[in-house]
Amino acid sequence: MKHPFAHYRSLFPVLESKIHLASCSQGAISKTVSESIEEYMNSLLSMGVNWNQAIKEVEKAKSSFAKLIGAAPDEIAVFSSVSDIFSAIASSLSFEKGKNIVVTTDMDFPTVGHVWLAQEKFGANVRFIPSQQGVIPLEYYERYVTSDTLITSISHIGYHNGFKQDIQAIAEIVHRKGSLLLVDAYQSAGQVPIDVKKMDIDILAAGTRKYILGIPGISFLYTVDEQFL
Ligand SMILES: Cc1ncc(COP(=O)(O)O)c(C=O)c1O
Repeated sequence: MKHPFAHYRSLFPVLESKIHLASCSQGAISKTVSESIEEYMNSLLSMGVNWNQAIKEVEKAKSSFAKLIGAAPDEIAVFSSVSDIFSAIASSLSFEKGKNIVVTTDMDFPTVGHVWLAQEKFGANVRFIPSQQGVIPLEYYERYVTSDTLITSISHIGYHNGFKQDIQAIAEIVHRKGSLLLVDAYQSAGQVPIDVKKMDIDILAAGTRKYILGIPGISFLYTVDEQFL
C-alpha cells in the first residue's frame, strides 16, 4: 500500500534509509530546504549581499511564523537562537525590590536557567520549580508564583522527556499573580497547535531547527508587551 504521505516523505532523503527520531535536536532536512540554502549561497557568490531580497525573505518568514502561532507579523522579531532571545528579554527587564522574582523550572533548557541566573547580579531572584517524576503539577504554579514574581519562564514541551504543559491554565494562575508569562516553544512549534492569544502568552520564543524542519541560526520572538518592542 502506498504511504498516504508518500509525496511529502519523498522530499526528505533521510527517510529512505532511516527512521528519524531526532527532531527534538535537529529535524529531518528536506530537499526544498537544502535547495534554498544552495540558492542563497550561490546568490552570495554571484552578486554579494542582496539586501532587498533578504528583507523580503525575513518578512515572509515572520508572516509564516506568525500564522503558525496565531499572531500578527508585526508581533514577531527574528533572532539567531532561542538562548539569544532569552538574553535579550532578560536584559530588558528591571528587577525592582518587591517585583524581582523569576520563576522557572528544573525541566527548562539549561541555557535558559543560566540566562536567568546571570540576572541575579542585577537584582533578580531566581526560583526553580522542582519537577516530580518528570512532570510539573499545575498546583506548583499556585505555590511558586507569588505577587513579587516579575516573570514566569517555562517550556511548552520539555526538551528531555516531551512533557507538555497546559499553558492556558498556567497563564490564568501566572497573570492572576501579576507575572508575565514567557513560553519556550522550541519543542512544540511545528509539532502541536499554538495560539498565543487563546493561550494568553505574553512572550514566546522558538527556533527553526526542530519540528519546523529548518536549520539552526534562525529563531523567532513573539510579544505584544510594549517594553520589548
Ligand atoms: C526547549 C529548548 N529551548 C532552548 C534551546 C536552545 O536553543 P538555541 O540553541 O537556539 O539557543 C533548545 C535547544 O535544543 C531547546 O530544546
